Amino acid sequence: MLKLGVNIDHVATVREARYRGRPVGEPDPVAAALLCEEAGAHGITAHLREDRRHIQDRDVWALREKIGTRLNLEMANVPSIVDIALRLEPDIVCLVPERREELTTEGGLDVQAQVAAVQASCRRFRQGNIEISLFIDPDLNQVKAAAATGAGFIELHTGAFAEHYHDPVAGERELNRLAAAAEAAHALGLRVNAGHGLNYENVPALLRVPYLVELNIGHSLVSRAITVGLAAAVREMLAAMAGYTGGSPGPSAGPTPGTNPTKT
Ligand code: PXP
Repeated sequence: MLKLGVNIDHVATVREARYRGRPVGEPDPVAAALLCEEAGAHGITAHLREDRRHIQDRDVWALREKIGTRLNLEMANVPSIVDIALRLEPDIVCLVPERREELTTEGGLDVQAQVAAVQASCRRFRQGNIEISLFIDPDLNQVKAAAATGAGFIELHTGAFAEHYHDPVAGERELNRLAAAAEAAHALGLRVNAGHGLNYENVPALLRVPYLVELNIGHSLVSRAITVGLAAAVREMLAAMAGYTGGSPGPSAGPTPGTNPTKT
């Protein structure tokens, strides 16, 4: 079964818009995480950014204590955050690139350019019994570099697929890139997650990508929750993912990008 990890950063974004710098405030990302779990989510993802623009330190400690599924800590591979992660002991960390001026994580981690640094952190996380995922673009060189680091997972950046989803030609090209990267990762012994820009409309087409373990989804779920509530938003996404059979690349295996009639 394809798992759903809910990224709750944007619950904290709403809180920080009103209560920045204060020790309390609403909405509470932990309460949101518990609702997601109750609705069937398989894991909770939070990104502790260096600039602390949404999730705060107290959130990750409360999540660690209160959630019953898996905690995926998204993070930059920098010493201060690595130290927190080693103390926090999430189930898995996902290393992402971070730029302070970006709106969201805009590209994959360039693992190829920093194999030694990623290897060094992977070693420390493995010693702490923490699994490691590397957020990378669907690029075969990045997949090969990821396999050399000791990470067990990659998370394929689906941003370009989401961006081009309404263009049948470019959408198909991006889907094929994701499928090829997933195939290569599987052949190299890596497990494959995917995320970024996924929504109720484009997820059915993504189900053609093979070997997927988990999708990490944030913005579209939190957006949908504003109208239908978080539990319903999670259940609707789980329903959209339910047909996953492990993927089978090929033109007849799923809806073509841009033609999926599933609208919400
Ligand atoms: N996966 C990673 C590594 C991310 O950085 C993000 C965005 O924080 C997501 C998944 C979720 O992306 P979105 O909010 O577009 O669903």
